[in-house]
Amino acid sequence: MSDQQLPSIERVLLGPGPSLIAPRVMRAMTAPVLSHLDPDLVTLLDDVRARLTRVFKAPEGTLTIAMSGTGTSGMEAMVANLVGDGTRVLVVVGGYFGERLAEMCRRYGATVSRLDVEWGRAVDPAAVQAALRDGGQVDIVACVHAETSTGVLNPVKEIAALAHEHGALVIVDTVTSLGGHPVDVAGWGLDAVYSCTQKCVGAPSGMAPVAFTPAAQKRRVACRSFYLDLALLEDFWVRRKYHHTLSSTMIYALREALMAVEEEGLEERWARHERNHLALARGLAAIGLDLLPPPADRLWTLNAVRVPAGIDEAAARQRLLREFNIEVGAGLGPLAGKIWRVGLMGASSTPAMVVLFLGALEHVLRTMGHKGGSGAAAAALEALN
Ligand SMILES: Cc1ncc(COP(=O)(O)O)c(C=O)c1O
Repeated sequence: MSDQQLPSIERVLLGPGPSLIAPRVMRAMTAPVLSHLDPDLVTLLDDVRARLTRVFKAPEGTLTIAMSGTGTSGMEAMVANLVGDGTRVLVVVGGYFGERLAEMCRRYGATVSRLDVEWGRAVDPAAVQAALRDGGQVDIVACVHAETSTGVLNPVKEIAALAHEHGALVIVDTVTSLGGHPVDVAGWGLDAVYSCTQKCVGAPSGMAPVAFTPAAQKRRVACRSFYLDLALLEDFWVRRKYHHTLSSTMIYALREALMAVEEEGLEERWARHERNHLALARGLAAIGLDLLPPPADRLWTLNAVRVPAGIDEAAARQRLLREFNIEVGAGLGPLAGKIWRVGLMGASSTPAMVVLFLGALEHVLRTMGHKGGSGAAAAALEALN
C-alpha cells in the first residue's frame, strides 16, 4: 500500500462526527506508548478520571472512566450493567439512537416499553409523566439527550425528576452533548450517563466516557458482558488489576482533549457552540433554508438542515465533498434524502467553519437551480458580531 492512500489534506469534518481535532490532541498521540499497568500511565488514568468527573459534573462516589470502544460501548456498558431479564425499561424513542437504545435493552432481556416521539421534536415531559403514571411500574427510563439523527435536545433534567418520583433510574446518552451543551449529572440527578470522544470532547473516536453514579451502582445487575463489566473495569481503573490492554495512545488523546475543554471553560465552550449554531441558522435563513426542529428543541451541536424542494440531497452532499472538501452527514431512516446533518462540534464549531460551509452550500445550491436568496455567510457573520 502506498502513502498516497492516506489522506494528504485535512477533511473539513462538519458531519455528525468525527469532528475536527486540535493539533495539540493529535500531537499528544505521538508520545511513546506505555503499557496499561505502567505506573506512569496509572497516574494519567487517575487524572482522566478526575477530569471526566468535572466535565460530567458527576457526584461524589461516581465511577467515571472511559470504556475502550466508541460511544456504542458506553451505551452498551450502561445497559449491560443495569438491565437483566425482566428489567422494565421505558425508552424515549425520537430518532435512530433512541431506537438503538431500545434494541440494546431488548437484547439484554428487558421488558421494553417505548414512548415514541415524532422525529424532529423533543419529548414533552408531560408525555413521560403520563407514560410513567399509566404504563405500570418501570425500573429504568432511558433517553437520548442530544438525538444526532434529528438535531433535537431532550429535557433530560425534567425526565430524571419524573423517573425518580416513580422510583426509576435514568440512563442518558450524552454522545452529542457532552462538551457542547450543558450536562450536569449531579445537578440534574442523572444516574448512568455515557458519551463519546469524537464529537464535542475533541479527540478521535475510540473511547466512551461513562459516569456510573452511586445510585446506579446500587441497582447493578450481574453483567453478562466480560468486556463491559463495570465491576471488573473499576478493578482495573481504580485497583490496577489487569482487565484488558487499554490503549495509552487513546488516553493521551482523551486527556489532552479534556485539558483543552477545561482551559476553555465549560460555560464558555457551551456558549461558543450556541453562538456558532445561531449564526449558522441565521445564514441558512438568508438563503431560504430551515432546520427540522422548532427553535426551542434545537441542538447547538448538530444541525438538521431541511433539503429544499427540487434539490437532490446526495448530489449536493457529494459536491460539497468533492469541490470543497467538506463532509456533512445524510439523514437516517425516515429522514433519508430530507435533511443534511451539519455538525458544529468541538474544533469544528468556529465562525470560520460556519462561513466556509455556508459559502460552499450557497454556491452548490445556486448552481443546482435553488432560488432562495444570497448572502448566507454575510448574514452569519452579522449574527456573530
Ligand atoms: C446520540 C448517539 N448515541 C450513540 C452513538 C454511537 O456512537 P459511536 O458511533 O461512537 O459508537 C452516536 C453516534 O453518532 C450518537 O450520535
